[in-house]
Amino acid sequence: MVADGIAVFSRDVTKVFGRGDTQVHALRGIDLEIRLGELTMLVGPSGSGKTTLLSVITGLLDATSGELVVLGERPTALSPEELILFRRENLGFVFQQYNLIPALTAAENVAVPLLAGGVKRQQAVARGKELLATLGMAHRAHALPSELSGGEQQRVALARALVHEPRLIVCDEPTSALDGRTGHAVMELLSATAVRPDRAVIIVTHDARIFDFADQIAHMDDGRIVSLEENRKNGALTNGLVAASETWSLAEPDARSYTTTGD
Ligand SMILES: Nc1ncnc2c1ncn2[C@@H]1O[C@H](COP(=O)(O)OP(=O)(O)O)[C@@H](O)[C@H]1O
Ligand SMILES: [Mg+2]
Repeated sequence: MVADGIAVFSRDVTKVFGRGDTQVHALRGIDLEIRLGELTMLVGPSGSGKTTLLSVITGLLDATSGELVVLGERPTALSPEELILFRRENLGFVFQQYNLIPALTAAENVAVPLLAGGVKRQQAVARGKELLATLGMAHRAHALPSELSGGEQQRVALARALVHEPRLIVCDEPTSALDGRTGHAVMELLSATAVRPDRAVIIVTHDARIFDFADQIAHMDDGRIVSLEENRKNGALTNGLVAASETWSLAEPDARSYTTTGD
């Protein structure tokens, strides 16, 4: 059984693409626990398996083998319809490309997950506006994406990921297209709004500038988690593999080997 407080439980999860000579072992036995109330970062060089792991966790891809429990469910045990409902209800996504719909206003973009869940348009857009206001964007609610700065667009994308109160928020490079100050502001916002006791946040990132916001950092290489760091500064962690004070000081030099471009 998976312990209370665990959002994602992964034991020896593998993912193999293709067959025969062209096989790619994208995940080679992932052991990971992602706790509710925490922000977990997946970092590592391009091709190390970060996106694949995220896709398996969010049910976009089936694992080849291993045990995976996400919010109490085994994705592979769900029917396609159940999986769609599960994802719609429980997952919120923030991408590097904000994927905002150009013809919709900021508030309408935020409302999209509610509309998909069957909420009436007027109500959904009103809720979108409310949430934008809490992110300091009340005055931009009627603006089109093309009229917003990068940081503002990322706030809209963040609001859209949060509007339906998902229990698992997944972010792919949320700050790498932003300048340092804007990226920091977006992370502060993400920490303040997304991290809650009943919710887990997973961020894939190359951006060493934001490592300090993590409760847990899983370093990936060649389909494996090669080290796991915990940052006790951010919360009360009980299960640290290594003393945070030691590992944390290693984070910076390590981080410089990653680039902030491409994935
Ligand atoms: N759909 C796919 N088919 C075949 N190989 C893939 C596919 N997706 C990813 N891979 C391979 O799996 C490995 C891990 O990729 P990925 O998870 O995208 O890494 P990252 O996100 O860390 O850059 C890479 O070798 C990549 O080429
Ligand atoms: Mg990737």
